[in-house]
Amino acid sequence: MKKADLEKEVDKRRTFAIISHPDAGKTTITEQLLLFGGIVREAGTVKAKKSGNFAKSDWMEIEQKRGISVTSSVMQFDYQGKRINILDTPGHEDFSEDTYRTLMAVDSAVMVIDAAKGIEPQTKKLFKICKMRGIPIFTFMNKLDRDSKDPMELIDQLENVLGIEAYPMNWPIGSGRILKGLYDRYNRRIELYKTEAKGESFIKLDDDGNIVGDSPLKDDSIYQDARSEMDLISEAGNQFSKTKIANGDQTPVFFGSALVNFGVKTFLDAYLKLSPAPGHHKTLQGNEVEPTSPEFSGFVFKIQANMNPRHRDRIAFVRICSGEFQKGMDVTLDRTQKSIRLSNVTEFMANTRENVQTAVAGDIIGLYDTGNFQIGDTIYTGKKPIAFEKLPQFTPELFMRVSAKNVMKQKSFHKGIKQLVQEGAIQLYTNYSTGQYILGAVGQLQFEVFQFRMKNEYNSDVVMEPMGHKIARWIDPDQLDEKMSSSRNILVRDQKGDPLFLFENEFAERWFKDKYPDVKLTAKL
Ligand code: G4P
Repeated sequence: MKKADLEKEVDKRRTFAIISHPDAGKTTITEQLLLFGGIVREAGTVKAKKSGNFAKSDWMEIEQKRGISVTSSVMQFDYQGKRINILDTPGHEDFSEDTYRTLMAVDSAVMVIDAAKGIEPQTKKLFKICKMRGIPIFTFMNKLDRDSKDPMELIDQLENVLGIEAYPMNWPIGSGRILKGLYDRYNRRIELYKTEAKGESFIKLDDDGNIVGDSPLKDDSIYQDARSEMDLISEAGNQFSKTKIANGDQTPVFFGSALVNFGVKTFLDAYLKLSPAPGHHKTLQGNEVEPTSPEFSGFVFKIQANMNPRHRDRIAFVRICSGEFQKGMDVTLDRTQKSIRLSNVTEFMANTRENVQTAVAGDIIGLYDTGNFQIGDTIYTGKKPIAFEKLPQFTPELFMRVSAKNVMKQKSFHKGIKQLVQEGAIQLYTNYSTGQYILGAVGQLQFEVFQFRMKNEYNSDVVMEPMGHKIARWIDPDQLDEKMSSSRNILVRDQKGDPLFLFENEFAERWFKDKYPDVKLTAKL
């Protein structure tokens, strides 16, 4: 591809993830977005994965039982001249480190919040990762067709619970049964809710924000309330700042309802105007790789194992950071400096997995892998070595003691654990004094996948015993005294050999801090 064409292609890309708490409406809004992209799925295809009857999935048992599907991991569609990649961030029981790592591969995030509930725990966790990366975050306050919280309170939560400046792009005129529409200050119009719209969906606003022409809304007290709140925000609220949005310091806020498709197009259109095309990526060599660089590069952010014993292959998900991918190309795997031919690849087009022809920076490709790749690996073409910055480790919140069921089979047990840990499927700790293995995860699914793969790939039955510990805190080795370990905590080492304590709860952590006020404990992320 010529440089000018590559630039044009990269500029078209918008790669994002939707972050939300389960049930806020992520699936519903995803389906609406796909519809705008002209992708008509059989009704509820995205949805069906939840109930587990996702017939198109030819994937592993757990995937099928759980309804997780590779096909829904990345969804690509075209809309208004842009090529959009939505990366799925599984929630519920499917929450895992992969959910976090997916956020390393996007250029922006859409945060969907249930307007009746406000900010919920999982949103908070995912938000933190996006904030750490400094990527733009766009907020959609969903379910406006139901009675919602006071919009002022929702804005206040963004600022005070999440600590991000909020800029309402539009403002609800009522909610639930009295929902009339949206006061859209960004587009200078009122978007009428279906019960109000008789033919026309929009009413124009003049430069002062007043309704142009006659409208019964003018005398409506719900409208007047919304108007005065919007005026108040315009006067006393935050100034719209493209720079702050680009740095993730300000979030544009949109209201609407995914279920009845109200305000979703308005959101998508503004999102496309304000969201970034793929940017540069930093390397460990201290350089920045531009997306339009002619050499191909990318990194593995997720590995999905195939649980079907007859198909041992896995899929390594690669975020392309620069250049153009071509089927059959040879790349260098930075970690081993080995050359690998990328011939068996999938792209994520809508409902089907089609063989990729070309893909550019911003796109995701899935490489069939027989064990070459690890999470965080960089691949590249050209003579100049590239290694992208390491993916962060996430603090686990669930722990299990693990051992081999059959003591005679220690060898396969250790081999399996070593490889799965290396691959990034799970985290491993060892008890400081007894050497006992402890697994750490951010979601229950990781344990199930671990157990399944140990049996199927390494022929090792494992015994796992849940622990009540939930909080992992690292300690500076210089401050460590083994006597600090007590019945209220467990002292362990991580994979690098760094010491940390596992606490059962905040009470135990506080007790420790009171006892050793000079000791600094840190969480990773
Ligand atoms: P998730 O992927 O974030 O977990 O949420 P999902 O889209 O599955 O939505 C969760 C529930 O909320 C669904 O109802 C869905 O229909 C509903 N929902 C989503 N957006 C809106 C909205 O804008 N307004 C209203 N009123 N409801 C919304 P459910 O009863 O759990 O599922 P279903 O039986 O409707 O399929």
